[in-house]
Amino acid sequence: MCGIVGYVGRTSGRADAGHTALDVVLEGLRRLEYRGYDSAGIAVVADGEISSRKKSGKLSNLLAELDARPLPESLTGIGHTRWATHGGPTDQNAHPHLSDGGKLALIHNGIIENFAELKLELVAKGVEFASETDTEVAAALLGDIFRNKLGGDVSDGGLTRAMELACQRLEGAFTLLAVHADQPDVVVAARRNSPLVVGLGEGENFLGSDVSGFIDYTRRAVELGQDQIVTITADSVTITDFFGAPAEGKEYHVNWDPESAEKGGFPSFMEKEIHDQPDAVGQTLLGRSDIHGKLTLDELRIDPALLKSVDKIIVLACGTSAYAGQVAKYAIEHWCRIPTEVELSHEFRYRDPIVDANTLIVSISQSGETMDTLMAVRYAKEQGAKTVSICNTNGSTIPRESDAVLYTHAGPEIAVASTKAFLAQITAAYLLGLYLAQLRGNKFQGEIKDILADLAKIPAKIQRILDNEGQIKELGEAMADAKSVLFLGRHVGFPVAMEGALKLKELAYIHAEGFAAGELKHGPIALIEEGQPVFVVVPSPRGRDSLHSKVVSNIQEVRARGAKTIVIAEEGDEAVKAYAEHVFYIPETPTLLAPLLATVPLQIFALALATAKGYDVDQPRNLAKSVTVE
Ligand code: AGP
Repeated sequence: MCGIVGYVGRTSGRADAGHTALDVVLEGLRRLEYRGYDSAGIAVVADGEISSRKKSGKLSNLLAELDARPLPESLTGIGHTRWATHGGPTDQNAHPHLSDGGKLALIHNGIIENFAELKLELVAKGVEFASETDTEVAAALLGDIFRNKLGGDVSDGGLTRAMELACQRLEGAFTLLAVHADQPDVVVAARRNSPLVVGLGEGENFLGSDVSGFIDYTRRAVELGQDQIVTITADSVTITDFFGAPAEGKEYHVNWDPESAEKGGFPSFMEKEIHDQPDAVGQTLLGRSDIHGKLTLDELRIDPALLKSVDKIIVLACGTSAYAGQVAKYAIEHWCRIPTEVELSHEFRYRDPIVDANTLIVSISQSGETMDTLMAVRYAKEQGAKTVSICNTNGSTIPRESDAVLYTHAGPEIAVASTKAFLAQITAAYLLGLYLAQLRGNKFQGEIKDILADLAKIPAKIQRILDNEGQIKELGEAMADAKSVLFLGRHVGFPVAMEGALKLKELAYIHAEGFAAGELKHGPIALIEEGQPVFVVVPSPRGRDSLHSKVVSNIQEVRARGAKTIVIAEEGDEAVKAYAEHVFYIPETPTLLAPLLATVPLQIFALALATAKGYDVDQPRNLAKSVTVE
């Protein structure tokens, strides 16, 4: 989830366009900084050379660098703001990456799944690498093809031809932009499973990871399709496929204002991020298993022998991340048969917990800076435990202080209330559980492959829920005056119920409470009175242990006392209809994976109700995105 900008202006003076590559790229990066702020960099083509600057940290660090070391005037350039995936947020790992003796610069958004094998191939050819990134491997591959396969012949399509051949070797998700000193008025870009749009100007053309990269200069955009390459000059835009055949892009007019463009056209980052969830889950799964269903968690870096000796897992987290841990508990215990406790970080170290060298600590944190969780991890390490961080922010403190890390790839989560990071955390926790089951032999390869196949279907199922969000949105708007809402769930539906309650508390400042449905008759049912709204997360009727019939009984219990029941149920579940004011159906999926779907309607409901109340859904009162105090 990085920010990418490309520009080519008319080389015959600036009378027509009046822009320089530096102006356009920096303005675009400023608007795209929300997509990633681990580092920023720029490369321009001038006087037969590539000149580039890059700095870790926010865009302001790059601006300071440019003040200190200005770039030459140029009308061809590319720029990048990074959300780190492979390799920490350092100057070295910042984009652009150079190759072909510094004559080629490349920037990238996505994950090159086969970068390790390509790197070995290039090292064997004598290529030296300065960074830990997959992007540098792509840059080296492109430079090697341009120079050694094509002989640096720019007449034969040059950089475009090299990009075609390189893309034929790359696997995974990527948006690539490249410039070459020998082709001063060209930017070549390619995309697969990662966004890229073209901006059409007069005597100038643009590229962006989204339209906010060039919205200040043009509103004529062309959306590219899968596996396409685009070559832009000041006066031309040529689209081909990865084998050089002509291809078409879809032109459209951008009618967003710049502010909403940064939110992908949504009114809030919160709504944008809810709609980012198919991608957040898909990107977190990407590159972590092979075609045989074998998990390859390279970054986990804990001695497998140690993982085999683990006799207890303790998940440490706060808030929504703790609910992700609760979901993970059911899956990890079922798949790995390892006792798994979920502890609120701020409670953990004050209860004199039992922790030793055979305990595996799994911290879950979107920000990687939550002080409660950081202190709990430090405490557990002092007791001799091994620690794994599930985190969304590359290079943040908690993963840095952990023995191993499993990054979620949800991209920057700007809204304070967590949504896409939550689904990505659950996904990463499933991957960890399956990896442990694979390592310890609790699951056969075929079983793991089947579960991974079910997980791979989740992004499309989330998208189906989002495509039908109108009904739940209307209910949220209609219930704007609600004073209290209860949420019930069983099994993995219980943490989903608690997360649904937290979303409503955070966004709409309404009293809301999540309960285990079986707990109702042990006290909370006294809360039920006429008209009390109660959400019920119903498990699949195909599940085991007759959980479904017990939850349907719970619905009847509250309904008999006047509750207004709103049910989240699996498509085809007719049994719930008789006892529900409203039923919102989610696609069929195995019970353990259902939280990735059942949560989405609850997020949409909370957002719609808070919006109807006129509240700021991105920055709710009293809250901070990262709680860095204990
Ligand atoms: C989520 O909606 C909340 N904003 C909050 O509970 C958050 O999940 C919690 O503070 C933990 O943050 P972390 O994931 O960055 O550690």
